[in-house]
Amino acid sequence: MNTSPATYVPGLEGIVAAQTRLSRIDGQNGQLAIAGFPLEVLASRASFEETLFLLWYDRLPTVIELEALQATMAAQRVLPAATEALLEAAVTASVPVMDVLRVAVDSLRLSWPPGLDNRQQAVRIIAVMPVIVATYWRMQQGLSPLLPQPQLGHAANFLYLLFSKVPSAAQVRGLETYLNTVVDHGLNASTFAARVIISTRADMLSAVVGALGALAGPLHGGAPGPALDMVLEIGHADQAEAYLRDKLERGERLMGFGHRVYKVRDPRAAVLSEAASHFFAQDGDQALYELAIAVEATAVRLLAEYKPGRRLQTNVEFYTALLLYGLGLENALFTPTFALARVVGWTAHAFEQDRLLRPQGQYIGVTDRAWVPPNERNTVTAAAIA
Ligand code: ACO
Repeated sequence: MNTSPATYVPGLEGIVAAQTRLSRIDGQNGQLAIAGFPLEVLASRASFEETLFLLWYDRLPTVIELEALQATMAAQRVLPAATEALLEAAVTASVPVMDVLRVAVDSLRLSWPPGLDNRQQAVRIIAVMPVIVATYWRMQQGLSPLLPQPQLGHAANFLYLLFSKVPSAAQVRGLETYLNTVVDHGLNASTFAARVIISTRADMLSAVVGALGALAGPLHGGAPGPALDMVLEIGHADQAEAYLRDKLERGERLMGFGHRVYKVRDPRAAVLSEAASHFFAQDGDQALYELAIAVEATAVRLLAEYKPGRRLQTNVEFYTALLLYGLGLENALFTPTFALARVVGWTAHAFEQDRLLRPQGQYIGVTDRAWVPPNERNTVTAAAIA
């Protein structure tokens, strides 16, 4: 073991903390491969179940294996009564969807048979998460929840459970392309959180619940809603420059731009922008798509002007917003839908993790502090105690 004094790296930037065969990211050249496939090859071809199998077993499934996986997932697409009761209570308390998803996933434990191994837990969690999100969303709208349709796949069921309508082939393809695009992305914060938890030999449920907490933050999974709001508020390409300049002058961040790893355009933005372009040409609001293209170009130009040398480019969230909006999903569903995809990556990373993760902290506090008895200490304000 290396015992030399360790160097503190804020944000663990550039630190390699795991080996993985799940995704390969080239941040300088803007390339992403998922289990050996270039993203642009896999994302628009695979069903989400095929991608799940690929990440778990490191190869594509045969037809028989795929059907078996689909049947297993269909059988688990059932909302336990205890979880449904929890969703009803959450509607009354107006709890945001991401918070509800985290609590509801944890509540699955109440209904599980004893002794499920991590793979059995993972299938159950992945299969039921879309049911949780769609059921809660319908309850919030005052609509009756629906039962999953066994003949529909994972992505199609989610759209059906939301909108009570069997989705078109173009809609299912659009959603599957999105889910495949964001299924895994190296050691992002939520995946790292899942690895830390599973590395203690905690179970899969704990790892997924922790990862859901990490994903909820605006610097990770929470950007597409604000990115879409920005495009809709701009409203017309002529307004983009004034609107974005004003934000940058006030020191605000432009949501959907910048990335810790990518210093060129995020390759996922390219895949999603192409998926959005197909989808909007057939089934959506072409003017909105064109507005988004204009906003993107202006934003990238102004970011280069205001943050020279930072190389801030479009990230995955910008076109996520557009595509999901085109599929009829509202802002509140964007991050939960991201979670429906990324949970497959979390579980696959958990299967790879085999050693306790335990980094060091560098102590920067005072040393040689002298003990002072309570009645000789300086008084502190009540605010400091609270
Ligand atoms: N708009 C304006 N300025 C930005 C942006 C942005 N979107 N992103 C970074 N900057 C600026 C920062 O203000 C900082 O400037 P300064 O040095 O003058 O203070 C500089 O660029 C570096 O920023 P950091 O926060 O150090 O960069 P980091 O690598 O930590 O940030 C992050 C990456 C969090 C994604 C950042 O770019 C950001 O906040 N983007 C907007 C939110 C967003 O789109 N999040 C989704 C990310 S994709 C995903 O998680 C799936």
